[in-house]
Amino acid sequence: MDQKKKNGRYERIYEQLKGLMDKTSDPVARMATVCAVLKNKLEYFFWCGFYRVEGEKLIVGPYQGPLACQVLQGGGVCLSSIQRNETIVVANVHEFPGHIACDSRSNSEIVVPLHDHSGTLMAVLDVDSLDFGSFDEIDALWLEKIAGFIYMTNTNV
Ligand code: SME
Repeated sequence: MDQKKKNGRYERIYEQLKGLMDKTSDPVARMATVCAVLKNKLEYFFWCGFYRVEGEKLIVGPYQGPLACQVLQGGGVCLSSIQRNETIVVANVHEFPGHIACDSRSNSEIVVPLHDHSGTLMAVLDVDSLDFGSFDEIDALWLEKIAGFIYMTNTNV
């Protein structure tokens, strides 16, 4: 998908999700809503979901796509994103040291950390693609904005 088309697609998804976030402030409901919309509107999203921080481990949350690992520990892209506290874009997952392959068909990945309103690291948003190099700075920019919805405090819910 070219950059302009991808950006336009994310703009519309962002607006749709912003409206949906008014329904409840429950983070699980928001996570489920975000991955349902993303997975169904962006065809290169093969797997899309959340992992929640539980001590040294990450436990799977709402997701869309094939069956995934329930617990991540010891390494991988998701834990690296938590440790670095930054978004990680991986063009070729087979070259990422410690990558955890929940599904061997995945070839590229992006992981975005999520914070609550006090800045505590709570979870990651993880997206996998069947293609190499699917994710770029446009995905990072928009997925970071969308990840910000999950623990956002609303005045009306
Ligand atoms: N690849 C991730 C594991 C989660 S799956 O992609 C759904 C990792 O290395 O942390």
